[in-house]
Amino acid sequence: MRYRPLGRTGRNVSEVSFGAWAIGGSWGTVSDDESMSALNAAVDCGVNFIDTADVYGDGRSERLIARLKRERKEEIVVATKAGRRLSPHTADGYNAANLTRFIEDSLRNLATDCLDLVQLHCPPPDVYYRPEVFGALDDLVKAGKTRYYGVSVERVEEGLKAIEFPNIQSVQIIFNCFRQRPSELFFREAKRRGVGILARVPLASGLLSGKLTRESRFAEDDHRNFNRHGEAFDVGETFSGVDYEVALAAVEKIRRLLPPATALARFALRWILMEDAVSCAIPGGKRAAQVRENCSASDLPPLDDETMRAIRSIYDAEIKPLVHQRW
Ligand SMILES: NC(=O)c1ccc[n+]([C@@H]2O[C@H](COP(=O)([O-])OP(=O)(O)OC[C@H]3O[C@@H](n4cnc5c(N)ncnc54)[C@H](OP(=O)(O)O)[C@@H]3O)[C@@H](O)[C@H]2O)c1
Repeated sequence: MRYRPLGRTGRNVSEVSFGAWAIGGSWGTVSDDESMSALNAAVDCGVNFIDTADVYGDGRSERLIARLKRERKEEIVVATKAGRRLSPHTADGYNAANLTRFIEDSLRNLATDCLDLVQLHCPPPDVYYRPEVFGALDDLVKAGKTRYYGVSVERVEEGLKAIEFPNIQSVQIIFNCFRQRPSELFFREAKRRGVGILARVPLASGLLSGKLTRESRFAEDDHRNFNRHGEAFDVGETFSGVDYEVALAAVEKIRRLLPPATALARFALRWILMEDAVSCAIPGGKRAAQVRENCSASDLPPLDDETMRAIRSIYDAEIKPLVHQRW
């Protein structure tokens, strides 16, 4: 495993880290035993950074991570999120009282006195025009409730606006072979300001593992079933917002670029790591074997220019018209 700086925090994080949404909920049934073995496999592979949220399984994901931290001696940086408990989910809800309440809940779930990193959880865009929200986060840092704060965003423009606030340490954004726009301007700006980047949905919800087909079926409580058209939350979070059939055809084209004996998931993650503004990719993993495969992306050599150009051409021809200006 290789490590990269997380913005200005002074922390070095595993370039392939762990996304803990699926072990909380919304991805079909996952037993706690399976989740613990996935988490332990991650630490065995050198992962030292985990992304979670208070709402993943209503605290279940955070509690499993607390258990991991009790059972392992390695230092692990945990990033959680706040804001999605709001109902309705409005900019007004992002106030000091609510943020304090959400953070206190996460502190209890994660069994700690101080969070490592709290991210606003894809707030409404208006939040980025309310400096008082970031003032409230500064107060929470001063009060010792969290070391750092950042944001998780849907759109490039939200990321660009967020990094104007000087104490934002990280931005989490969808970045993968099917979501290439962040690398055009946003990453350059984030890097210039020393802001860490967490590349989420790196496997386009499993599509970029190459295992999904037209016949794949998903459980009722898997968002790949219930949010396929954005019924529950932003459609971009499910398959990166790319039409399923179009994505399957593009995956077949990407598959032709694979070096011998290389799994597509590793290749897709290695593509993300080509971008040096990225602090880490945070693939979700439900099983230890998936986690080991994902972590081994860090061992692959860099992709050559011809391969990078080929992936860009597939994106430009098949995917770009569907997603580029939407997020
Ligand atoms: N708004 C936000 O802030 C937000 C939104 C989304 C995600 N996130 C964060 O980003 C993380 C990653 O995104 P994601 O989990 O949505 O999507 P992802 O990482 O693109 O896909 C994860 C899913 O792909 C499958 N998979 C993983 N590794 C695999 C492998 N090697 N081979 C085959 N299948 C594999 C697993 O599901 P199956 O085995 O069931 O196929 C897994 O749950 C999340 O866990 C979360 O921490 C944040």
